[in-house]
Amino acid sequence: MPMIHATDRQGQTHDIMANEGASLMETLRDKGGLDIAAICGGMCACATCHVHVAPDWMDKLPEAEPDETELVEFSPAYEEARSRLSCQIPVTEALDGLTLTLAPEE
Ligand code: FES
Repeated sequence: MPMIHATDRQGQTHDIMANEGASLMETLRDKGGLDIAAICGGMCACATCHVHVAPDWMDKLPEAEPDETELVEFSPAYEEARSRLSCQIPVTEALDGLTLTLAPEE
């Protein structure tokens, strides 16, 4: 089971055992109990699942589709080097050790 290290908006770090097959957003919200609104339900339409990925992890993640990039670029907390929408990242064993921080709420 991949282990995700996630820092919440209060600066607290959570080590979350993830299940393959879920999305990263579902893992952070449901298994980690983190405060992610995910108001679009993971349909790449709300950007409330925005996370800042540790820079050395960006290249290891599956590349963002154009619709993800277009949406996240509009976020006030967007940072090209580390912004992703967590609902668009499927959990696989390759994510073991992934380190990220929830982006500030908008
Ligand atoms: S949950 Fe809405 S864009 Fe990810």
